[in-house]
Amino acid sequence: MIVCVCNNVSEKKLRNAVESGMTTMAELRTNLDVGTCCGKCASCAKSILRECMDKA
Ligand code: FES
Repeated sequence: MIVCVCNNVSEKKLRNAVESGMTTMAELRTNLDVGTCCGKCASCAKSILRECMDKA
């Protein structure tokens, strides 16, 4: 599933990024550009981040 349509960031890409050590939205934003355009994906990206962190 694509989370960020503007920058073509998939849910898998986000999960992989968290697995490789990114723990904040700021890091995801800097490295994947998620949420840097229209911002509509921010809350979805945040919940995926939270979910991944909970599992870790
Ligand atoms: Fe992510 Fe627009 S959908 S910035």
